[in-house]
Amino acid sequence: MTAAIRTVDRMSSSSPSPSLSPVPPLRLAPIEIAPDTFLIRSAQPAFGAPLSVNLNSLVIRAAEPVVVDTGPASNREQWLADVTSIVDPADVRWVFLSHDDPDHTGNLHEILELCPAATLVTNWAATERMGCEISLPPSRLRWIDDGGALEVGDRVLRAVRPPVYDSPTTRALFDASSGVLWASDAFATPMPAEPVETVADLPPAMWAEGLAMFHHHALAPWLAVVERGAYAAMVQRFRELAPQVIVSAHSPVIPHGMVSAAMDHLQALPDVVPPPHPDQAALDAALAGAPA
Ligand SMILES: [Fe+2]
Ligand SMILES: [Fe+2]
Repeated sequence: MTAAIRTVDRMSSSSPSPSLSPVPPLRLAPIEIAPDTFLIRSAQPAFGAPLSVNLNSLVIRAAEPVVVDTGPASNREQWLADVTSIVDPADVRWVFLSHDDPDHTGNLHEILELCPAATLVTNWAATERMGCEISLPPSRLRWIDDGGALEVGDRVLRAVRPPVYDSPTTRALFDASSGVLWASDAFATPMPAEPVETVADLPPAMWAEGLAMFHHHALAPWLAVVERGAYAAMVQRFRELAPQVIVSAHSPVIPHGMVSAAMDHLQALPDVVPPPHPDQAALDAALAGAPA
């Protein structure tokens, strides 16, 4: 998912004026979700609703440490502090980019500059789409496509196209040694304004409705027209990874006991009717209720 305010930022040829600068997200402490695997978290308050949305990334402290996605630019100082509290930048060997949206690439320049031994792991399509924004020596690039493997010393990470995504470049990342699945944007869902740590802390109806709202309106609007059998096969492929825990850029942690329910929600999405897409009347109502 991509926040609209960041699209404004990206399209500007110069820095936005202070009034247009994105507000830093809420700070949430990193959590260790598996041995040597840390979720770097933050949360963006929603406009016009008492909700917030995670903006997460991941650090795998493998024998060859891996930073997975780079967070939004609006959280730069805190994101760099969180990442470097977990791994020495001199040790980082890989920066895996799940796709080319600005809430995932916001600190890409900074982390590559800070980590001179790091290679950017992405794919041809992402390299093409980011061509006007970043220039890297080809020697610092590694292209891995759907199904491809990345050896990081003590484990092998596998790139997998998720069933739902908002960029054709998207690859999830699965660590079979820990059972951690980085789902990129898949499983995106809002949470209360006061952030929660796992989806077990969400009322079940809120989780189901949030998944439907975000996936149909903000991530994969083609869900309603997708060929059901082909989509089910994509979900089944994801399910057969048998993750112990799922982490998403835009969800509380999905712990082992909720993995099956999360996959069921994903599978059902094409036939779920989402809440209405907020329109101008919703914006007017939000503006009326917003502090002056
Ligand atoms: Fe995205
Ligand atoms: Fe995203």
